[in-house]
Amino acid sequence: MGKLRILFSGLGWMGKSQMALLAKNTSVCVPVVVEPKQAEARAFLDGLGMKDTVVTDDYDYALENFDCDISWIVSPNCFHDGQATKALEKGLHVFCEKPASVTFSAFEKEIELSRRYPKLVTLVNYVLSYNEMEKALIEMVKAGKMGTIEQLQVNYRHPINTSGDKAWKLNKAMMGDAFGMGINHAVSIVVHLMETQAKPVAVYATSQNFHIRGFEAQTVHNVMIRYDNGATATVLGNIDRENGYDLYHCLNGTKGSFIFDSRIEERDKIRMWSDDLTDGMWVYPLH
Ligand SMILES: NC(=O)c1ccc[n+]([C@@H]2O[C@H](COP(=O)([O-])OP(=O)(O)OC[C@H]3O[C@@H](n4cnc5c(N)ncnc54)[C@H](O)[C@@H]3O)[C@@H](O)[C@H]2O)c1
Repeated sequence: MGKLRILFSGLGWMGKSQMALLAKNTSVCVPVVVEPKQAEARAFLDGLGMKDTVVTDDYDYALENFDCDISWIVSPNCFHDGQATKALEKGLHVFCEKPASVTFSAFEKEIELSRRYPKLVTLVNYVLSYNEMEKALIEMVKAGKMGTIEQLQVNYRHPINTSGDKAWKLNKAMMGDAFGMGINHAVSIVVHLMETQAKPVAVYATSQNFHIRGFEAQTVHNVMIRYDNGATATVLGNIDRENGYDLYHCLNGTKGSFIFDSRIEERDKIRMWSDDLTDGMWVYPLH
């Protein structure tokens, strides 16, 4: 099989870190990059030894004129659904940074299109799905090591970077909402953990606009999800204000508990007990 050909759009902060990884991957190649800051993109690609990759600022031109297999989307949020939709209609697979879109109606259209073309693979990148701690925790839960989860809390509180050319994140039309911009990371963890045990039946959510920077969208969201076995999960999110990066987890099950606090010293970040794994004793696995 030949190399998978990637049409890459958005060579900004996240795009550059993903491109640096793609450059090392011998099973893919990148014939074309869509990036309005063309000179900066050219210099970055040359630095990676990708001199044959063409740079354009026009997504439609790239889609029409380059034979690619995947549209890889890391552009600002408001362009995600338009670029993904055009790619699917042209027969390309889609890898898209979160969020899938900035409106629910556009998201529904994307779902409809992905069903219409079942042979095309679509993936919205919730990066924590690939995190080693999250994967280990899901495996413990699946194996029954925590028993039945009764209560689960996951936070996503993090002042996202809006400096310089990232000021588009303050603009509601470009960013969408605080959920799509980051709080959905915490929701993705809740979804992955709980789907091994129960189905969601109700959601109660509130939001506030306690912002210190110039966000047009509301920055604080609180979510409570009720499951068909009686369990409850909560997500507390804030994309404007936090001292550090709060990805706190507190999972309480009938046979164990797991606490992760991202804001304290490395060795104390994880505390857990499990009837099966620790004889019911609280332990710090990183000590
Ligand atoms: N998973 C994560 O943890 C994570 C973290 C940061 C950002 N992101 C996502 O990555 C995306 C980019 O965020 P960022 O922080 O890198 O922002 P950024 O502003 O650094 O990068 C965006 C880039 O897209 C370019 N661009 C603008 N219009 C474009 C268009 N129409 N087509 C193609 N490119 C265009 C900009 O010039 C810029 O270089 C966002 O969707 C964001 O939600 C994900």
